[in-house]
Amino acid sequence: MTRVFSGIQPTGEPHIGNYFGAMRNYVRLGEQHGENAIYCIVDLHAPTNPHAYDPATLSRLTFDMALANMAVGLDPGKVIFFVQSQVREHSELGWIFTLTTPVGELERMTQYKDKASRLESTPAGLLMYPVLQAADILLYKADTVPVGEDQVQHIELTREIARRFNHSYGDTFPEPKAVLEQGALRVPGVDGHGKMGKSKGESSTIGLLESVGSIWAKLRPAPTDPARVRRTDPGNPEICLVGDYHRLFSDDQTVLEIWDGCRTAGIGCIDCKKRLMVGIERELTPIQARAEALRATPDAVLGGLHHGAERARTIAAPVMDEVRSKMGFLGASAGR
Ligand code: AMP
Ligand code: TRP
Repeated sequence: MTRVFSGIQPTGEPHIGNYFGAMRNYVRLGEQHGENAIYCIVDLHAPTNPHAYDPATLSRLTFDMALANMAVGLDPGKVIFFVQSQVREHSELGWIFTLTTPVGELERMTQYKDKASRLESTPAGLLMYPVLQAADILLYKADTVPVGEDQVQHIELTREIARRFNHSYGDTFPEPKAVLEQGALRVPGVDGHGKMGKSKGESSTIGLLESVGSIWAKLRPAPTDPARVRRTDPGNPEICLVGDYHRLFSDDQTVLEIWDGCRTAGIGCIDCKKRLMVGIERELTPIQARAEALRATPDAVLGGLHHGAERARTIAAPVMDEVRSKMGFLGASAGR
């Protein structure tokens, strides 16, 4: 049996890079694995980033991330979808794992080094972050973790933490594997500067819930193949940002027409972008309509998350009992 687990940072409004690179895969894996697909909005991790210190901001970001994933098709009635802080066992297992994880291993984590180097004072939570992440995964004995490339090192550490626990206390946890999307889809930023990313600001991103007018305002001036100086110059859609987006949003026939039109200068860049807008609208309009409906019924979102937390607890509580009992905490086998 496969059990999938992934954690989603509540980082605000997701963009189409998140959608194609992550959110759509969660939905697909959810359709395959049902309740064995477990997705958690990791709000306990979030305040390691200064943007989530403010309480009102943290709860808004958490809610918005839940809403966006539900709008894309993550169904809390089918998969297990919940908020980390609502299942206390995450913190407890996180602490257990800090007991034996060498500080040296944590200090070697690339993400830690990168984040810590930009801070004057490093919170211990930033160092412990991957230990809590290991607890997230192992609490459900998950074996499959869909993540981006940057998280592979954390999953390796999770395997070591599982191995160490199993060695000390007997076979308990599987050693989970990271699964990267084949061909590691990488959506470029609309400003033409590398990968689309939140840290690069609004000029780089196309928000999943952004209005068509606002998307067009970014797409219209977006750079295309620099060889196309004049309308009559042929171009190469393989090296054009708009070509990349067509591959994501347009049907096969349109892609063929665009490829041919660009190479023969049969279509200008503005018309090519207008054709792209048709595909963008077709993909995003239903998602945005569902998001609006969910925003009008916040209790449905919160109810879905509570249901998810209850389902999660039915898996997490017995695993925690097993851990307490194996470690010799007095009275543990009697449960709570
Ligand atoms: P982040 O927004 O960086 O926290 O990433 C959340 C998820 O979205 C991760 O699984 C990333 O791999 C994925 N992701 C973020 N930006 C992109 C992008 N430009 N192209 C493809 N996937 C992305
Ligand atoms: N660290 C992950 C990120 O930055 C989020 C995360 C937390 C996670 N716990 C997890 C991902 C468990 C996979 C499994 O994106």
